Amino acid sequence: MAQSTGPRKVKCAVFISGTGSNLKSLIHFSKKKKSPISINLIISDNSKAKGLKFGKIYKISKKVFNYKNRIHAEKKIISEIKNKNIKFIFLAGFMRILSKNFIQNFKGKILNIHPSLLPSYKGLNTHQRVIANNEKYSGCTVHFVSSKLDSGKIILQKKVKISKHDTAKSLAKKVLIQEHKLYPKAIRKVFNL
Ligand code: GRF
Repeated sequence: MAQSTGPRKVKCAVFISGTGSNLKSLIHFSKKKKSPISINLIISDNSKAKGLKFGKIYKISKKVFNYKNRIHAEKKIISEIKNKNIKFIFLAGFMRILSKNFIQNFKGKILNIHPSLLPSYKGLNTHQRVIANNEKYSGCTVHFVSSKLDSGKIILQKKVKISKHDTAKSLAKKVLIQEHKLYPKAIRKVFNL
């Protein structure tokens, strides 16, 4: 089987705060022979994040940073990333806002996935707000991270139809299935594949 950590692959880090299902899908993607990336580092602000288990399962280094002081946390993260020669960062359910300085350090190298059709429904509790507004469609977006929340250049989006029986929970499930496909596709696009 092809190894995910071949030297031709670009080293990447994934930032998580929770379940890590997008992290898992990115790891699977990275292990494909033709994938342009390898995942070499998992970063979290939350020691209880369920997704950290994927570090153990797939033998990827994981690091938890205490975010009581963001400046301090980010300094440590930057040095960890530079030490490991990480070139791209994928945010996947990371619940912290990165500082302008951090984003400047990795300009054009940070991607995020958001569970709505941006620019609609930026921020938190997306699915609840979408359902409350009786929308017919929602979806997900992969975008570059800029200093304005959920506002960087859009790479790819996927639309999801909402049925009249959908709740915030059922919609979240539907959208998440698409997220797992969209994130790898967007990465391929960034790498011109
Ligand atoms: C996803 O819906 C993602 O779009 C949002 O947070 C959720 C993370 O899910 N930013 P998971 O941790 O990848 O399962």
